[in-house]
Amino acid sequence: MTRTAILSALIDEQRGLIGQLTDATEVAHAGRRLWCGRLHGQDVVLALSRIGKVAAATTTTALIERFAVDRIVFTGVAGGLAPEVRVGDLVLAHDFIQHDLDSSPIVPRYEVPLYGQTRFLADATLSAALHRAATDAWTQLPDWLGTEVVARYGLGQARVHQGLLASGDRFVSVAGEGQRLQADLLAHGHRALAVEMEGAAVAQVCFDYGVPFAALRTISDRADATAHADFNQFVREVASHCAEAVLTRWLKTL
Ligand code: ADE
Repeated sequence: MTRTAILSALIDEQRGLIGQLTDATEVAHAGRRLWCGRLHGQDVVLALSRIGKVAAATTTTALIERFAVDRIVFTGVAGGLAPEVRVGDLVLAHDFIQHDLDSSPIVPRYEVPLYGQTRFLADATLSAALHRAATDAWTQLPDWLGTEVVARYGLGQARVHQGLLASGDRFVSVAGEGQRLQADLLAHGHRALAVEMEGAAVAQVCFDYGVPFAALRTISDRADATAHADFNQFVREVASHCAEAVLTRWLKTL
């Protein structure tokens, strides 16, 4: 049977999934605690990526080498960069770039040395199935978040987007930083929808091993000076439920 890894960035996003796991076993490996079991009939491994590209790459390698997963789905939050990407929207990755990788002039800015490429693609089939699940979940947002939460965060018009995710080892929360980062990427022909801290690293490891990978990010902030405000509360009240709703719908279609 196909074994699916569900990588979450934060413990709050993982808790609901662990609660639904059957035949659950907790395994310690590489300083991490992972959960193996069954979720809606599927063989799954639940893991925390940890924060940042190196930690996420280690977790991904362990999932592939030690836990023999066949595909990886990542859920987490991200800061919106493109003007149309608002708090509460969902961004499904089409591809990934490392916004803090610069080996110029040896290779062009953002290019990953020795790979001859700058962007790593998400798996198209996996992403299409998750897109269907996300679109379905988003039409019922008030049902599973509650009308009070939807009103408080202004999620009435929340949308699902698909595009480029930019990853780097930095929580972007200084005035003007998100715009600068976006402008630099645009100047090199890359229009990123959102910024986070792990996706491109996971994508590169999955590329190395030929493992299909897809990522979903709920937009928690606009990557500006207000980015830290109520971050944990947003994750608890919104993002964790978004991840669970989409993953549940997707797993049930398999
Ligand atoms: N994840 C969520 N918001 C983020 C931000 N502003 N910068 C980097 N990663 C994030």
